[in-house]
Amino acid sequence: MRFFLDFTFFLNILTVVTIFGKETYIPDASLSVPKIIKRHGYPAETHIVDTKDGYLLEVHRIPYGKNAKQSKNFPVLLQHGIVASSADWIINGPSKALAYQLADQGYDVWLGNSRGNTYSRTHINRSPQNEEFWNFSFHEMGIYDMPATIDYILERTNRSQLNYIGHSMGTCIFFVMCSVLPEYNYKIRVQISLAPVAYIHHMTSTLNSLAPYANQIEKASNWISHGAFLPQNAASKLVNKYLCGEDASNSLLCKKYIVYKLFGEDSVQFDMSLLPIILGHNPAGTSVKTLMHFAQEIRTKNFQQFDHGKEENIKIYNCSHPPKYNLSNVIAPVAFYYAQNDIIADPKDVIELYSHLPNRLGLNLIEFDQFNHVDFLYSKNIIDMVYQSVLNTISTTEFEDWVPVFDNTTIYNAIDNIHCNDIELRERNSRKTNKGFWSKLTGYIKKKEVSPLVNIKEQHSEKTAESRNTYTKAWKELFNE
Ligand SMILES: *[C@@H]1O[C@H](CO)[C@@H](O)[C@H](O)[C@H]1NC(C)=O
Ligand SMILES: *[C@@H]1O[C@H](CO)[C@@H](O)[C@H](O)[C@H]1NC(C)=O
Ligand SMILES: *[C@@H]1O[C@H](CO)[C@@H](O)[C@H](O)[C@H]1NC(C)=O
Ligand SMILES: *[C@@H]1O[C@H](CO)[C@@H](O)[C@H](O)[C@H]1NC(C)=O
Ligand SMILES: *[C@@H]1O[C@H](CO)[C@@H](O)[C@H](O)[C@H]1NC(C)=O
Repeated sequence: MRFFLDFTFFLNILTVVTIFGKETYIPDASLSVPKIIKRHGYPAETHIVDTKDGYLLEVHRIPYGKNAKQSKNFPVLLQHGIVASSADWIINGPSKALAYQLADQGYDVWLGNSRGNTYSRTHINRSPQNEEFWNFSFHEMGIYDMPATIDYILERTNRSQLNYIGHSMGTCIFFVMCSVLPEYNYKIRVQISLAPVAYIHHMTSTLNSLAPYANQIEKASNWISHGAFLPQNAASKLVNKYLCGEDASNSLLCKKYIVYKLFGEDSVQFDMSLLPIILGHNPAGTSVKTLMHFAQEIRTKNFQQFDHGKEENIKIYNCSHPPKYNLSNVIAPVAFYYAQNDIIADPKDVIELYSHLPNRLGLNLIEFDQFNHVDFLYSKNIIDMVYQSVLNTISTTEFEDWVPVFDNTTIYNAIDNIHCNDIELRERNSRKTNKGFWSKLTGYIKKKEVSPLVNIKEQHSEKTAESRNTYTKAWKELFNE
């Protein structure tokens, strides 16, 4: 029952999209990202990036700040988290949001959108009405979306490297990319991980209690939405018109049971006045398979590829279980920012991930006990608490002759057992060997011109005992060879 309760609340908040209506009109809650950027007096561009497997991603760009021209050597790519979008980086407004802060410092700022979200729901020949469109997890975002977006930006800006800032799943897909396609490490100046997510088995968010139900959710969701999870659409707007509404009691409910249970309780930094804007853009949708993949990571306590089930795994990976991502391949310099009260990117998981990365620039704990998962985007004192340090880190990479100073205060542990250590496959092969043994035995018996094995099955024939003896003798002889 607890599950149903949580799950209902969870769906409610995540599918909430309204709040406006009634008397107030909040432009930032309903306009598209480029329009919001322009509304605040910044230049905005929209670019379409096509991936190797045919998805068309909408990437947003703020080429320079309100008063500053582009003055920095390396562009910055900001990548959002799960069921979110490029809006995450501007929701907090020009005085706080990271995209504007970077643009005002003279950076060329690019905002990615992962396949399946509000802005990236087109494909050259697959319709989002079709299950085939939603057949992807964060793995495909890592091996197709990220490389395509990075190559597009570098080509467009005639640069060889960029800075990468990810939040939550936006860090996860970076680690997927750099471990599967290590050549992309060299295109990264520095990677900043805000609330890094890869190992997630310590998470205490309501999301964790959903993990055991991943299969049921998949089935239900395939039936209802062809594999899409929490897409923003008219129906969800309608459903949620009456939840998390403007009046105080709803807000309180929202805060207490939904926001806090999903992301961590923070009554100080969480700005309730942003809620209409946050909910105007989130959830932006993803595939159910993405959720399934995360559920698998919770269950297996690993950061590994998608588990298709034993039979399929053997076909795809030549192993009954999926391989782990080889984090030793992630050689781009990485700086971590994490928080004590983040109930999705739990400090234990963050530290484990950090310890598996070879080139670390620092593990920065936010100095505020209540800081939660979404405070990295929406909190009130975000600049002092996080962004000032992020901007400092990025500015050190500006010069061509920059040499990273790696963190030598923590221990690096390469992950072990990356190779298929396959008990299942060995059992299978040994069964095959047994089969070979039987045919060898039959051949042996035939060669010796003893009674065929068929006779053994004739339980009541006179010859049974004799055959059995012959068979046993042959078996023993063969076995002792
Ligand atoms: C989903 O994609 C995988 C490859 O990643 C493929 O093997 C499988 O057949 C696809 N399934 C569907 C339903 O399209
Ligand atoms: C691209 O950058 C290189 C140097 O980094 C420069 O020589 C070249 O002219 C640039 N190309 C364009 C089209 O700006
Ligand atoms: C599959 O794995 C087995 C060991 O488990 C190995 O001997 C074989 O070469 C592998 N096949 C391929 C195609 O990689
Ligand atoms: C993992 O990556 C490291 C560094 O690139 C490499 O030395 C190691 O062989 C890789 N392990 C496997 C199992 O591929
Ligand atoms: C860590 O690196 C700093 C300089 O980068 C150096 O001064 C210090 O001795 C190093 N510490 C260890 C334990 O290697």
